[in-house]
Amino acid sequence: MAGNWKMFKTSAETAAFFEKFLPLVAAAEHCEVLICPPYLSVATAVQAASGTRVRIGAQNLHWKNEGAFTGEVSAPMVRDSGCTHVLVGHSERRQFFGETDKSVNDKAAAALGAGLTPVICVGERLEQRQSGETEAVLTEQFQNGIGPLSPEQFGRILIAYEPVWAIGTGLVATPDQAADAHRAIRAQARARYGEAAAAGIRILYGGSVKPDNVKGLMAQPEIDGALVGGASLDPFSFASLVNF
Ligand code: 13P
Repeated sequence: MAGNWKMFKTSAETAAFFEKFLPLVAAAEHCEVLICPPYLSVATAVQAASGTRVRIGAQNLHWKNEGAFTGEVSAPMVRDSGCTHVLVGHSERRQFFGETDKSVNDKAAAALGAGLTPVICVGERLEQRQSGETEAVLTEQFQNGIGPLSPEQFGRILIAYEPVWAIGTGLVATPDQAADAHRAIRAQARARYGEAAAAGIRILYGGSVKPDNVKGLMAQPEIDGALVGGASLDPFSFASLVNF
């Protein structure tokens, strides 16, 4: 169960979140818990979560290990800060910061090279779904963004299916829509990496996951977890998602 805080929470707000959140999930051992704060709150989050089962991730990284790239942060730096995971290719990065399947693949490889688990995000936009292109879009994103990874690398990633029309809109995909998309992604994984790898890959659903819809989504065997935006900002609502 992963929370993506996007551009929310200072370090004081991060500390206050963990103080309330950690006791609420102390007994939760049925799932892994990941929180991805903004870079500048990572140190506070790592310190607050140390000695617990909660893992901390970054929301982005650069594909080079170092260099003259003003404003960027590399995979070894993310790892050094205490993160275990990093989001790659979130639709907001694709939409507002020009990320492509090629940069997604380069960033995923850099993350893996530094020992991080990349959470690679894919998903179709509203007009693509409306014109029946969902599966084609997912196929292209998989083949160009994920497919160049080696089988060994593929064994160390997570995938998040986030239909763009469901992000921050309150419009959640139905459990069946999400499961269909996950099946399409898994079919790509099977074609490229084989049956065992496809069965083993964990695919999270993201897009308006809330305490009142999480059970229906998680009841789908195809859905292995959730990547949560808005509802991860409140310690009580994210704890109730973890404890679904
Ligand atoms: P919301 O849960 O706010 O729709 O955001 C989903 C998301 O983009 C998580 O990465």
